[in-house]
Order: sequence, then structure tokens, then C-alpha cells
Amino acid sequence: MKFNVAVIKGDGIGPEIVDEAIKVLEAVGKKYGHEFAYTEALAGGCSIETHGIPLTQETIDICKSSDAILLGAVGGPKWDNLPGYLRAEKAILGLRSELGLFANLRPALMFDSLSDACPLKPELVEGGLDVLIVRELTGGVYFGERGRKFTEDMGEMAYDVMPYTEKEIERIGRVAFEMAMKRNKKVTSVDKSNVLETSRLWRSVMHNIKDDYPEVEYEDLFVDNTAMQLVINPKQFDVIVTENMFGDILSDEASMITGSIGMLPSASFGEGTRGLYEPVHGSAPDIAGKGIANPLATILSVAMMLKYSFGLLEEAVAVEDAVKAVLEDGWRTADIAKKGEKALSTQEMGAKVIEKLQ
Ligand code: IPM
Ligand code: MN
Repeated sequence: MKFNVAVIKGDGIGPEIVDEAIKVLEAVGKKYGHEFAYTEALAGGCSIETHGIPLTQETIDICKSSDAILLGAVGGPKWDNLPGYLRAEKAILGLRSELGLFANLRPALMFDSLSDACPLKPELVEGGLDVLIVRELTGGVYFGERGRKFTEDMGEMAYDVMPYTEKEIERIGRVAFEMAMKRNKKVTSVDKSNVLETSRLWRSVMHNIKDDYPEVEYEDLFVDNTAMQLVINPKQFDVIVTENMFGDILSDEASMITGSIGMLPSASFGEGTRGLYEPVHGSAPDIAGKGIANPLATILSVAMMLKYSFGLLEEAVAVEDAVKAVLEDGWRTADIAKKGEKALSTQEMGAKVIEKLQ
């Protein structure tokens, strides 16, 4: 089979880690007889440098005509002081909304061989941790009306509105239940319905759809309580579904407790099978160009691409198993190595994964 992949390497360590992920994809193609065609596109800081804006119509068009998008990371200190609409992050937000990528899957998975890196007491995560955060990605306060007003008596005022429609809530809710059906059949819906009207609508929509999934155990949890539960009893969770900003915050928390933020992939998709795949970590400008970044999150993002956009399950599992095997053999990049342990370069780590794959 042949697949078109849009490649956005982005800024910072983006190009280095994407290069390794593409090599892995090539190795998969060779082994299983698939062909991948790549079209590179700019977004973020590098797009600001070339075109003056973080996201061009050309890049959007390239993404729209591809079967999947692989993204490294965007942004860096060089572009941090530009006005909001010119920030590199705007590229990510623009891609999400232009491509209708309303569902964001962020698995927080603890790798057995890295369990030492978990900051929680060992007994809290015994037997491993596997939580899937399903984050709504194109609605809420990220995309609501925002602005400023000045009045003589109050001075400057700023506002960001958090709107949600029934339809937006229902479609992300269904993604969460479908995912739970393939996992441990539990959904925790996170809101702040003791305060927010959007959360009250969120909760009532979730209650309506849960009856379509009688096999799934369902619970509601306030977001503040969820933040707490994640550190005192993370194993109670299977699938967590929540709105855009809560999901942003909780997914960082969840990924950190796995001890492997440099290891976690993510997938974002809309109505069809086209998805955008990227590591959860950022562009790490402090180590860019040094060849020491961990490419595993991007490589695991490729595994998600194989599974969700291309329906190539066996191939996806092969990539995941190769990563696990490399870790079990004790190979580490600097971010996950213990003090004094020898660390592989970005390229060496990519090569180890390919070795296992073959
Ligand atoms: C993320 C990031 C983005 C977000 C930023 C870069 C706009 O933090 O993907 O979690 O807030 O969604
Ligand atoms: Mn974030």
C-alpha cells in the first residue's frame, strides 16, 4: 500500500527527531511492503523566518492532501515575544482548527524498564501505568472570543470566552467511549460543573451518550479532584475525557508521573482517518542541534500513525515492541539515562530501534 505523509519538522530538536522517525517508517515499509511518500512543509518559527507568518495556506493544503501528518515540534525563545497571532504556537492551533482535529489522544504509559524515573512512590504505580487522556482539541477557551477593553474606572480588562456546543461534546465523548471499549472499559469524564455552565452542559451530554455503552463503567470527576487523584491513585484511571484546557494541563501532569515525558507520543484526528502525530514534548531549544534529543516519542508517534491512520496494526505493534526491546536492553538517550550511564545520540537510538525492527 502507498501512503502520503506530510512532514513538518518544525523548530529546535524537531528536525533531528523527525529524521529518525522517518527512517523507522522506511524500515517498516521495507519489511512489510508499503510505500510512504513524504511532502515537507514549514510551520512555526521556521515559517515565520521564511514567510513572515507561522502557518501558510500552502502548508495547510499539503496537510489536507495527505493521509497523515508527522510533526516534530514548533516554537522557541526567538519567537516568544511576538504578538499572539504571530507566535509559533499559532501554527499548532491553526493546524488543529483548519484540519478539524477535534480529538487528541495522549497515552500516559509507563515503560517497565523506566519505572525508576516515576516521581511517585513505587507502591502507587506497581504493575505499571496506562492512562489514555482524550482531550477535546478545537473548542473551548482556546478558540472562543477573546479581547481587551479599557475603561476609565477599571483600567485594562481582558477576557477569553469558553464556549462549547452539544455536538462538540458528543463527538469527543464518543471517541472516549470507543477507546475505552478497546481498553479497560472505564471512562472518567472531567469537568468543573460545580462552577462552569459549559461543564454542566458537558456533563449532561456525557450522561446521554453513556447509555449507548452499557459495558463501560462511567464516572464524573471535578478537574481539581482529578489533578489530586492522578498523584495519589493514578491506577484508578483508564480513559480520561475532558475539554481543551483541562486536557492540556492534566496531560502534562499524567505524562510526568510516567517519568517518561520524552517518550510519549500523541495523535490528533477529526472525522476521517487523517491524523496529526507528534511527540508530547516540545522543541527543547536548549539542546537543539546537539544530536542528543530522544527520538522515541516521535518514533512512537509513527506507531500511532500506522495504527490509526493507516490501519496497519501489526506494523504499529512491531514499532512499539522494537522500542520496548531497545529499552529493555538498557539503551538510553541522555534524558532518560541515569547519572554516569552511557547515553546514545539521537541517531544511534534511531538505529537501535531499526535494528530490533529488522
Ligand atoms: C500542547 C501545547 C499546546 C497547547 C501549545 C503549544 C499551543 O501545550 O499541545 O499541549 O496548549 O495545546
Ligand atoms: Mn500542553
